[in-house]
Amino acid sequence: MEKMPYRQELELGTQVFQVSTDDVITTDWRGRLPVMTGKTVVLRELRASDAPSLFAMLTAEEVARFISPPPTTVEGFEHFIAWTLRQRTAGTYACFAVTLKGFDTAIGIFQVRQTECGFGTAEWGFALGSAFWGTGVFLESAELMLEFVFDTVGVHRLEARAAVLNGRGNGALLKIGAVQEGILRKSFLRNGRYLDQVLYAIVEDDWRAARDARETKKPTPYAHVH
Ligand SMILES: CC(C)(COP(=O)(O)OP(=O)(O)OC[C@H]1O[C@@H](n2cnc3c(N)ncnc32)[C@H](O)[C@@H]1OP(=O)(O)O)[C@@H](O)C(=O)NCCC(=O)NCCS
Repeated sequence: MEKMPYRQELELGTQVFQVSTDDVITTDWRGRLPVMTGKTVVLRELRASDAPSLFAMLTAEEVARFISPPPTTVEGFEHFIAWTLRQRTAGTYACFAVTLKGFDTAIGIFQVRQTECGFGTAEWGFALGSAFWGTGVFLESAELMLEFVFDTVGVHRLEARAAVLNGRGNGALLKIGAVQEGILRKSFLRNGRYLDQVLYAIVEDDWRAARDARETKKPTPYAHVH
C-alpha cells in the first residue's frame, strides 16, 4: 500500500464512470476483474458506489496511519475508483473491493501494481476497516488475492512494504507467508516524518510449494471410514 501510484491531486475533473453490477467471471482480468469468493468474503471490482463506505472505513486514523494518504472526500474516492478501472484496463494495476458474503458493502481494498513491465514482479497493499481486524477477513482475502496474483496475472515475485511501526501490517504479512528481506531505512514519508519500512516478498515457487503442502495435509473425504 505504501508506494501505490494513485495521486489524488492529478485526478481532479476526471470523469467518474460506473460499471455494471453483474458478477462476471472473466479469463482476461484486464477487461474485468474476476469475482473471487471465499468462505465468508467476496472480492470484486470496485464501483463508484463504493466511495462512501471506503471513505468511512479507510480514512479512520488507525487505518490510514501507515499507508499513503487516502483521498480526503467521498468525491476523491470516486476519482480513485475511476482511476483504478483505467489502470486495470491498461494492465498495470488491479484493485479489489473486499465485501462479506451476502453484503455488498466494500469494507476494504486489496491492490496490486506491476513493478516491471509485463507484471513479472509486483507490489501489493491492503487496508480493511478496523471493525474487521482480527476477524479472519484479512487471511481469507489475502489467500484469494495470492491466487489471483500468481495464477491469473502470472507474477513470479510479489513485494510488500510495511512501516516497522505497523505491528498489524507486519503480523499480517508474516502470517500469509511473506519473507522479510531487509529494512528500507527512512523510505516512507508520513506526516512529515520519514519512517523505516520492512521489505517483504513472496516468491511464486515458495507459494506453490506451501499450497501443495497444505493440500497434501488435508484429510480426504474418506479418511474417517474404516
Ligand atoms: C493490515 C490489515 C489489513 C491486516 O488485517 P488484520 O485483520 O488486522 O490482520 P490479522 O488480525 O488477521 O493479522 C494480524 C496479525 O498481526 C498480529 N499483531 C497485531 N499487533 C501486532 C504487533 N504490534 N506486532 C506484531 N504483530 C501484531 C496479530 O496478532 C495478528 O496475528 P495472529 O492472527 O496470528 O494473532 C489491517 O490491520 C489494516 O487494514 N491495517 C491498516 C492498513 C495498513 O496498515 N495496511 C498496510 C499493511 S502493510
